[in-house]
Amino acid sequence: MDIRNSQIIDLPKILDKRGNLSIIEQYKNIPFKIVRTYWIYDVPGGEKRGGHAYRENEEFIVALSGSFDVMLDNGKTRMKFSLNRSYYGLYVPKGLWREMDNFSTNSLALVLASTPYDAGDYIYDYNDFIDLNNERK
Ligand code: TYD
Repeated sequence: MDIRNSQIIDLPKILDKRGNLSIIEQYKNIPFKIVRTYWIYDVPGGEKRGGHAYRENEEFIVALSGSFDVMLDNGKTRMKFSLNRSYYGLYVPKGLWREMDNFSTNSLALVLASTPYDAGDYIYDYNDFIDLNNERK
């Protein structure tokens, strides 16, 4: 997977003195149908999440509150994205190793996913991930 397919996507922002509003519509703001939504919260200081790749699942990650970092790796290149605003998010294509860390107190990570939860879609071992990438070439 080409790591350059991952990208920060700006979301519509409706500014209002009563409070701001942002929007995500499938296929319009993000390039997949939203099949699943989950969120990560109450992360203790210093903890990491992720540490795996998906074979098929694509995701879009937004820091609805607070901040955290997402590290993406295609087996050759690593890129770090710092998410800290609720009006943009990170599109993560399938087939990339990903780790999340540096969560601030009270951070809230919203994750939109393109597939139903499937434990078989995960690659948990980094060496397996590298082997799979090499087989695909
Ligand atoms: P996991 O995806 O490994 O979390 P992260 O990548 O954020 O560290 O999931 C942690 C646990 O939650 C694991 O036991 C599977 C379960 N889980 C579900 O049951 N459904 C889901 O949609 C997700 C994302 C996780």
